[in-house]
Amino acid sequence: MCQREKTKMNSYKQHIGTNKEAFLEELKTFLRFKSISTNPIYKPDINNCANWLKDQFNSFGFKSHLIESEHNPLVYAEWLGAGKDKPTVLIYGHYDVQPEDPIALWDSPPFEPTVKNGKIYGRGTADDKGQIFAHVKAVETQLKLNGKLPVNVKFIIEGEEESGGEAIEKFLNETPELLKCDCIIISDTEWYDGGDVSQALPSICYSLRGIGVFEMTVLGPNRDLHSGTYGGAVFNPINVLCEMIASVKDKNGKITIPNFYDNILTLTEEERMELAKLSFNETEYKKDLNVEALTGEADYSIIERATARPTFDVNGIYGGYTDEGHKSIIPSKAVGKFSFRIVPNQTWEKAVETFKNYFISIAPKGVILEFRNEQGGNPVLAPITGVAINAAKNAMETAFGKNLVFMREGGSIPIVSQFQTQLNAPAVLMALGLSTDNIHSPNENLALDNFYGGILASMLFLDNMGN
Ligand code: BES
Ligand code: MN
Ligand code: MN
Repeated sequence: MCQREKTKMNSYKQHIGTNKEAFLEELKTFLRFKSISTNPIYKPDINNCANWLKDQFNSFGFKSHLIESEHNPLVYAEWLGAGKDKPTVLIYGHYDVQPEDPIALWDSPPFEPTVKNGKIYGRGTADDKGQIFAHVKAVETQLKLNGKLPVNVKFIIEGEEESGGEAIEKFLNETPELLKCDCIIISDTEWYDGGDVSQALPSICYSLRGIGVFEMTVLGPNRDLHSGTYGGAVFNPINVLCEMIASVKDKNGKITIPNFYDNILTLTEEERMELAKLSFNETEYKKDLNVEALTGEADYSIIERATARPTFDVNGIYGGYTDEGHKSIIPSKAVGKFSFRIVPNQTWEKAVETFKNYFISIAPKGVILEFRNEQGGNPVLAPITGVAINAAKNAMETAFGKNLVFMREGGSIPIVSQFQTQLNAPAVLMALGLSTDNIHSPNENLALDNFYGGILASMLFLDNMGN
């Protein structure tokens, strides 16, 4: 690093240092909005949150407006003062959050952000308000300190990543030119730590799994029946549902549906060797979850199983009698809610059809199947070389003082694959979260070092892109 860069970095660090409390207070305000996208009763909170974010951008020199539709508003913001010969960076994130339940398991109120032991606790701290806010504070700081940004910057922050993402998909399809950019930067993932958070390393994720969800109802007899008078002769929809689910995977976690793995782009030998170099502590991983054993395909490592292989999970099952005591019935119906993960070269639409057709093909004649609520997002494969990746790697390593690793992640961010194809630009998934952040769980949190370090990393990244 040359002297001029050192001076610049020191001024960044100093500015972050003197504004620590102010940044934290603003983040807390952002976190207090109950912007839960999975339940329409929070629509007013969603709108207030989007408006607040828009006002943030407008307050420091970005031009921001909401893109309204029948769905949750998108927050768009831009600063294009760097001129045509400088690249344009698109920064994506989401301001919507998961529901807080089960509320009894939170140590502090989910929507009253609380700082404890170097972490900020609250719903959305890591997923994704805290992570996206680091970039917001980064561009604000650069504008304050330098009066300009080193590159053109656009933000697109959606309000329904956790529940469908229709608005952003529509916006991207209808007006891709508005999001035209040279790279897409996303902080909505976590650092690699091999099962032991004390070993966490700054990470860029180059592959996300895709996701699909659907619901299946198994309809049996036209009413609940006495299990003594009918049991043994009439199909029990819950039994049938369970048998069908059980046949989707074999004992080793391999999906048994014919042709399911056809054409998938899985790990190359070279990539497996690279991944195998990263440390993985199975004992710590199990200890953290309080489980004795793990499952999955024997010929793949735990990390490979959880990030680079397809899987199928039951998220919920209901039907029959579930109150206190017993009721001896054959229920008339059963419902299963499913999610599956897919890997590059698979599409969620095709996979949903595959699963549905499989269930239809194995269902006994005595039941009827109904399907609803199909949704999904496709897998992502991003480059690990190129200008933007190098800029991000260098920025992360400098900001956090540790070597960066390239990782796959098992989670999904539905719009990213469409960003890459429609904008013809690489996605750079620059993680700021940790595995202990409890995203989607009680006591969600973000390490403050990662928040402040993320602000610095974002500024260094933009500087690198501008050079
Ligand atoms: N930020 C997560 C995805 C994620 C988490 C990726 C950790 C990698 C590591 C995102 O907000 C999320 O929860 N995605 C959902 C998508 C679904 C609701 C359509 C997911 O992966 O289940
Ligand atoms: Mn997220
Ligand atoms: Mn999420």
